Amino acid sequence: MQRILIIGALGQLGSEIALECRRRYGAENVVLTDIRNDVNRPLIEGGPFYLVDARDGKAIDEIVRRHKIDTIYHLAALLSARAEQDPLGAWNLNINGLIASLEVAREHGCAVFTPSSIGAFGPTTPKQFTPQDTIQRPTSIYGVSKVSGELLCDYYHHRWDVDTRGIRFPGVISNLTPPGGGTTDYAVEIYYEAVRNKHYTCFLRGDTYLDMIYMPDAVDAAIAIMEADPSALRHRNAFNIAAMSFCPEEQAAYIRTHIPEFTISYAIDPVRQAIADSWPDCMEDYAARVEWGFTPRYDLASMTADMIKTITDREGV
Ligand code: SER
Repeated sequence: MQRILIIGALGQLGSEIALECRRRYGAENVVLTDIRNDVNRPLIEGGPFYLVDARDGKAIDEIVRRHKIDTIYHLAALLSARAEQDPLGAWNLNINGLIASLEVAREHGCAVFTPSSIGAFGPTTPKQFTPQDTIQRPTSIYGVSKVSGELLCDYYHHRWDVDTRGIRFPGVISNLTPPGGGTTDYAVEIYYEAVRNKHYTCFLRGDTYLDMIYMPDAVDAAIAIMEADPSALRHRNAFNIAAMSFCPEEQAAYIRTHIPEFTISYAIDPVRQAIADSWPDCMEDYAARVEWGFTPRYDLASMTADMIKTITDREGV
């Protein structure tokens, strides 16, 4: 991985993977694209940037040629709750965007990273220690697009020898870029509200368990899998990774160890609750650990301490 293209670079994952890739590989070797250019000026101005629709295969092809790209991070997608509001739009972006990247990769011999998700599982999947290879019959359009994306990655690898690699991300928690339109967004919002208002009204039930990961571990994982020896990778669709699993009640209890006055109440959003209920409580990630050395550093305690300190320092509370 020497010359990298990041599609959807201003999103939650993209903006932090882009920062770290520029730090490791040099700004001029990390080309960014997004469909917008009205946020994050430092990232846009810190190296090559193009305003491109992820579905525009011709534009992506030209950028790959011009910059001699060898690795594509395809990160443009609608998240689960947004996708339910616009199922056809979600299918269009999540699938046609991915196919555009896979086609360019086939043409130019690039490796492709695609994020899948805990959303690629459904109510008939084993909920506890969800295996790497198991039943995938999701009930959200987001999940349907993620399973289809996994199958496309397998197909392009077996049929065309494209070097496809992917991760089934849990909810990603960051103190830099906010998520947008996901079911796991509560786990980020709760820290900001705890610092600012000492109270959070949660849209999921207090006992809803989901896998989560802290952004530094998510970024390391996305880079580690692309740096891995291709011959070691048996799975070309996407790997389970699981850093921690918790529910809102537990997260609130950990927050109280830093902010004792913090309280939580609940106003359940039935759409996002139904999505969360259809997802695993906790995945098993043995394949990721063995095939490319996934080793998360943060658990709920250390992530909570870091989130609260960082937000408090930044906001001068
Ligand atoms: N964080 C995502 C969502 O909630 C799951 O991949 O939609």
